[in-house]
Amino acid sequence: MSRKRVAILISGRGSNMQALIEAAKASDFPAEIVGVLSNRAAAPGLATAASQGIATASLAQSKFPSRDMFEDIMTQTLESWDVDIVCLAGFMRILGEDFVNHWAGRMINIHPSLLPLYRGLHTHERALADDAKVHGCTVHFVTPGLDEGAAILQAEVPVLPGDTPDTLSARVLIEEHRIYPEALRMLASGEIAPL
Ligand code: GAR
Repeated sequence: MSRKRVAILISGRGSNMQALIEAAKASDFPAEIVGVLSNRAAAPGLATAASQGIATASLAQSKFPSRDMFEDIMTQTLESWDVDIVCLAGFMRILGEDFVNHWAGRMINIHPSLLPLYRGLHTHERALADDAKVHGCTVHFVTPGLDEGAAILQAEVPVLPGDTPDTLSARVLIEEHRIYPEALRMLASGEIAPL
């Protein structure tokens, strides 16, 4: 079996990154994690990945004259790793159309809501403010519209009395760590077609 080569883009903690790394340790998983790229040098996930022998790169958008140049260098870095699939895992920058189109069908994201509900930020706070009874997470293809691409997998969690954004996000995160590796497996194995 030839395994798909996967890069993970992060901005912070990297717990979803770690879930993907763990899943890819199985010999029958159809993808391997070949690199982790962060737009923040201080992202804790970068050190976590490096400590496991995974190639890492850190690129700050502020060091580039334009977003397009920043994203061109991101693509060059990913291509230097010979990447087939890009997984956004808490990558907290909106990506430009050229970058997204370049990776169309080969780039997926995990988002902490049941899309199309709560695109963007502060999803847990917004679900609580709406008195939602059910919340969750979605893995979806990345398209130029923010959090608008076709969903691959979703998982629901109940919103419980007394929940705070922290307790709710912790419950959602458990499901994120379950469905993200499964969605990557589906894409890398060809079980779902790229867009
Ligand atoms: C995750 O909850 C992920 O769903 C969310 O950021 C967190 C990153 O945590 N992503 C977004 O909000 C994207 N819009 P992690 O670094 O521990 O994976």
